[in-house]
Amino acid sequence: MKYLLIVITLILIVAVIGSAQIRNSKHDLSFGSTTTGPKTTTSTYTEVCVFCHTPHSTQSTSLLWNRTASTASYAVYSSPTMEQTVPQPGAVSKNCLSCHDGTITLASVVNNPGSSGGIAPVFTAPGKIDTTVFTGIGTNLTNDHPIGFVYNTSRSTDADLRTETVAGIKVTVNATSPTRSLTLYGTTAASATLECGTCHDPHGVTGVPTFLRVSNSNSELCFTCHVK
Ligand code: HEC
Ligand code: HEC
Ligand code: HEC
Ligand code: HEC
Repeated sequence: MKYLLIVITLILIVAVIGSAQIRNSKHDLSFGSTTTGPKTTTSTYTEVCVFCHTPHSTQSTSLLWNRTASTASYAVYSSPTMEQTVPQPGAVSKNCLSCHDGTITLASVVNNPGSSGGIAPVFTAPGKIDTTVFTGIGTNLTNDHPIGFVYNTSRSTDADLRTETVAGIKVTVNATSPTRSLTLYGTTAASATLECGTCHDPHGVTGVPTFLRVSNSNSELCFTCHVK
């Protein structure tokens, strides 16, 4: 009986860990979060999702986004061997950049919790991600993997890239391996772009560091697209 209880407790612990990846992660900016990164000191901000999503009165029409959009103009990746010119980041990447380019304070939540306006969350310094606290992304994307471009435009002339699959309104690379497939943003091969969210899941994946969708040990993430 005692062992049975221990086993049941262990199963429950595993179940909780498995389902709550964002809680206490670097993306849990809530009051009471145990993250070692920035988090709010405002006690009414016990919600985890609110720093990025809200059910009503959103900033944009997609993803129920709850943050002020960045108006920054980005220096983008270029190289003589690229199959195409890289444009400005797409809308979904700009969601990430609404924190990670360091131009907007973390406190810039559009719809604060509670009725009649609510209050903005307070962050003790540093209140935003910038190079003094976090050597993250910034507005200079020239030294980062290219984003915002149509995958198919490169793939159709570059034999070293894996074919993408269109199923309904979803476009994925490496679709035959569900645990190692990656999503492109768009409904057709001719429009689907590679964005931050192609490689990263902002909510985290159990057992995979750095919010990556696929572990990059042995460069597995890279091999999901590049055949080298
Ligand atoms: C740090 C910012 C951030 C936080 C906090 C966050 N999300 Fe997200 N969420 C995103 C981004 C960015 C996307 C778009 C992901 C993508 O590009 O696929 C997203 C997408 C989603 C989606 C649609 C796609 C999917 O993954 O199913 C759902 C549902 C969602 N979030 C729910 C939540 C809930 C519930 C919480 C709180 C427990 C939460 N999110 C907290 C950033 C966040
Ligand atoms: C609400 C603001 C916010 C948004 C939106 C956001 N992040 Fe973050 N992110 C943070 C903060 C804060 C940290 C922790 C920084 C630190 O530790 O100094 C972080 C850390 C990270 C890290 C490092 C994690 C680690 O384990 O070291 C990655 C990777 C990351 N974010 C990717 C993304 C991507 C990709 C998106 C969009 C899909 C995104 N973030 C959206 C605030 C945000
Ligand atoms: C092609 C895949 C890919 C894309 C696209 C991508 N990342 Fe990453 N990112 C990675 C990998 C892999 C790592 C881990 C690097 C390491 O551990 O050395 C990482 C690390 C990070 C980190 C933490 C380490 C650091 O450099 O500070 C942040 C923050 C981050 N990414 C944010 C973003 C944001 C924001 C975008 C979109 C603008 C983005 N990433 C697009 C693959 C990608
Ligand atoms: C979702 C698919 C995908 C993933 C994952 C991915 N890449 Fe890429 N990568 C591409 C595409 C598409 C291009 C554009 C190729 C072109 O147009 O020449 C590219 C471009 C590049 C380039 C620039 C090529 C040039 O000609 O300048 C390098 C280098 C690169 N990737 C390395 C990596 C590494 C390293 C990883 C793993 C950390 C990675 N990629 C992950 C799809 C991906």
